[in-house]
Amino acid sequence: MHQISVSAIKSARAGRLMGRRVVYLEQTGSTNEVAKELARRRAPEGTIVLAEEQSAGKGRLGRTWTSPPGGSILVSVVLRPLPPVLPHLTMMASLAAARAVQGATGLPAGIKWPNDVLIAGKKAAGILIEAELAGERPRFAVVGIGLNVNFDVRSVPEIPETATSVSLALGHDFPRQELLLALLEELEVAYLSLQAGAPIQREWRARLETLGRWVKVS
Ligand code: BTN
Repeated sequence: MHQISVSAIKSARAGRLMGRRVVYLEQTGSTNEVAKELARRRAPEGTIVLAEEQSAGKGRLGRTWTSPPGGSILVSVVLRPLPPVLPHLTMMASLAAARAVQGATGLPAGIKWPNDVLIAGKKAAGILIEAELAGERPRFAVVGIGLNVNFDVRSVPEIPETATSVSLALGHDFPRQELLLALLEELEVAYLSLQAGAPIQREWRARLETLGRWVKVS
């Protein structure tokens, strides 16, 4: 099992936004819930919550997110976006995750609208954004990312057949730490671009595997 080292993350992320504070939990209900609570208590932007295992991992649309202990990247990031940036966070995070997977592992990674990262057409990661508002303005947003890294999704009955993992696609395990650091850096680049008003739609569209295809919206 490829371990995650908090001290290595802290030193690699020194002076950067994403990962300026790191909360590492062996086990928790949901990293998004922990991150929201920290955000309510004024945790700084860029705080990340990492877990090896979630007992109540949350997916979109009230679904659950299942992952065996120690084989995934389960991370939630506290952000304090400008109002116009909030609706673009799913796009931002899916683009960052696709870039990170491809950059670190060499596996071509695409995006399935609205929030899935695909490897070879199968879902390797999902993104759940949760935000709290003060009137019209975002008080904070939490970007939760679950990335299947070093386990065989076929051995977990709750995970659908449409899913995959990095190790399954590569044929061998991959260091989670390296992938996590790539993910944090790509999140930082994409988020700061958005906050500065730069468009990221073009690359997002280029990676979109659902473009021009019918999708079911519910
Ligand atoms: C989806 O595809 O439906 C979104 C899945 C998001 C899962 C991640 S795992 C880390 C973070 N904590 C959660 O409880 N959910 C997100």
